[in-house]
Amino acid sequence: MKKTVRDIDVKGKKVLVRCDFNVPMQDGEITDDIRITSALPTIEYLMENQAAVILMSHMGRPKGEAKPEFSLKPVADRLSQLLGREVIFTPSDQVVDDHVKASAEALEPGQVMLLENVRYRSEETKNEEPFTGQLASLGEIFVNDAFGTAHRAHCSTAGLAGYMPSVSGFLIEKEVKFLGDALEDPKRPFVAIMGGAKVGDKIPVIENLLKKVDTLIIGGGMSYTFFKAIGYQIGTSILDEESIKLAKTLMEKAMDSGVEMMLPVDTVCAREFAPDSEKAVFNSDTMPKDMMGMDIGPKTIRLYQEAIAKAGTIVWNGPAGVFEMPAFAEGTKAIAEALAESDAVTIIGGGDSAAAVEQFGLADKMTHISTGGGASLEFLEGKELPGIACLEDK
Ligand code: 3PG
Repeated sequence: MKKTVRDIDVKGKKVLVRCDFNVPMQDGEITDDIRITSALPTIEYLMENQAAVILMSHMGRPKGEAKPEFSLKPVADRLSQLLGREVIFTPSDQVVDDHVKASAEALEPGQVMLLENVRYRSEETKNEEPFTGQLASLGEIFVNDAFGTAHRAHCSTAGLAGYMPSVSGFLIEKEVKFLGDALEDPKRPFVAIMGGAKVGDKIPVIENLLKKVDTLIIGGGMSYTFFKAIGYQIGTSILDEESIKLAKTLMEKAMDSGVEMMLPVDTVCAREFAPDSEKAVFNSDTMPKDMMGMDIGPKTIRLYQEAIAKAGTIVWNGPAGVFEMPAFAEGTKAIAEALAESDAVTIIGGGDSAAAVEQFGLADKMTHISTGGGASLEFLEGKELPGIACLEDK
C-alpha cells in the first residue's frame, strides 16, 4: 500500500501534483473533462489543508516542442471554473523559468497554479535532467495523481520521487483499489469482457486474466482473429494476421485452466465499412466471403447477458462492435446495459469502453470507470506501473 496525501503533513508546504489532464479537445474546446473532475478531490484536499498547490500535466504528444495547440491554458480555465477560484497559469515554453520560479515562490497556502505542458520539454519523456531538477526546485512534496500516465517513467511521473517525499493522490488510490481488488480478491464469478480491434494489443492482458477469471467473453474486431484460428471463413472482416497462432494458444490455455471462453455465436455483417451499409446476421461459422463482421449478433447478446447477470465482478475493456456507427452499436449497448443492471462490481477499463458507457448515458451506473487507457491495460496485465512504484510505502 502506498502512502497518500492523508499520511503526510502538507500544511504550509509547496506541493507538486502530477495530474493527467490529457483531455480530448476539438477546436480549442475540451470535449470531455472527466480527467479534470477526477483530479478535484486531491486538489481540494490540499487547498483545504493549506498547501500551496503546483499542478503539472502533459497534453498530447508535442515531442519536446512548445506547440500552442497543446497548451494547458484551456485546462487552467476549466479548472478555475470547477474550483470556483483562480488557477494561476504560467505559460512558459520552458515550463520552468525564472518567472515560473518566482510565481511558485509567491504562491500562498490554499492557492493553485498550473505549469505549462511538461512535454514541451524533450527531457520529460526520457526522464532526464536538467528538467526533473528544475521541476523539483519548485516544491517540497511530490504527489502523483496521474493514473492515466502512471505507466510512463517520465520526469514528472517518476523522476521527481528521487528528490522529495512522494505519495499518491486520491485518484491513484481509488484506481488501484478497484482494479487491484478485482484482480486479487474478486467477488465470483469473475467475468472479463475483452473487445476492440486487435488481439495483439490485448494478449498480455488476456493471458494475465486467464489466471484470474471464471469466464472470458470475447467481442469486437478481435473475435475474427479467433474465428480464423478455429478455421471459420471470416470474409472481409478485420484480421490480426500475426496473432492467429496466439489466439489459438489462448483458447488452449483457457481450456487447460478451466476458464469458460465465450466467442460470438452469431455476427452482424456488413458489405462495406460504412454506417449505412447493407447488413445481415449470420451464424459465426457461416459468414459470407464478401461481407465483414461489424458487431455481435442477437443470440450472442442473449448468451453474454446471461453470463453478465450471474457475475460477481466484471471487468470490461474494448467495445463489442463498431459502436461509433449506430447500425453496429447494438452489441456494445446491450453489454453496457447488462452491466448497468447487474449487481456485480463493474469496472470499465479506460479508452473506448469508457467512451461507450458515456455515449449510452450509463456512466453513473458503473462501480468504477478507469481514467487510464494504456495504464489500466498495463495494470490488468499485472505490471508494476513506474509512476506508482516510485511512491513511498505505508
Ligand atoms: C493517455 O491518454 O493514455 C495518457 O494520458 C498517456 O498518454 P501517452 O500515451 O501519450 O503517454
